Amino acid sequence: MRLSCCVNAGDNAIALIGFMGAGKSAVGRELSRRTGWPRYDTDEMIREQFGISIPDIFARHGELAFRDAETTLLKTLQRGLGGIVVTGGGIVLREENVRLLRRMGRIIWLDADEEILWQRASRHSTRPLLQTPDPRARFAELLRERVPLYQTATDYRINTSSSSIAEVTDEIIALL
Ligand code: S3P
Repeated sequence: MRLSCCVNAGDNAIALIGFMGAGKSAVGRELSRRTGWPRYDTDEMIREQFGISIPDIFARHGELAFRDAETTLLKTLQRGLGGIVVTGGGIVLREENVRLLRRMGRIIWLDADEEILWQRASRHSTRPLLQTPDPRARFAELLRERVPLYQTATDYRINTSSSSIAEVTDEIIALL
């Protein structure tokens, strides 16, 4: 894992949170391109650390190992320079993670209408939490559980339902 990076307390780091399909990764990439700020995508970094895909991490090591890796990674991101932190949809499940993100800078919640989130998320079958007999029902259940957590964690909420990646990025840049 890259330990020599990262986001300094007090820097204007931006953390993107939100449910699967919210567009965090795409917006994070565009934001990084436009601002020149480094991007730290927790899913990507955890994949690199384990050397296998996220579904394989869940299958071989269990969800708890993935969640522990998220928290450990956020702790390492406390050191260094500012940037954009792109998180996995479950990052808000631990209060400790939210505290760590807050210390880095502003937290932005990318949200969208449920049906739109589902359409986007179900285009890729790689989400381990949706490998169930009724993924649509599981999706709705997880979203219901998570919305209050995103609400509590966030400084700013952006509805991405009818916005392009460029428009969402513009809105974030206007906040900086
Ligand atoms: C998860 C979302 C995924 C990934 C992992 C767990 C979740 O990231 O971190 O599969 O708990 O919602 P995305 O939000 O980028 O899909």
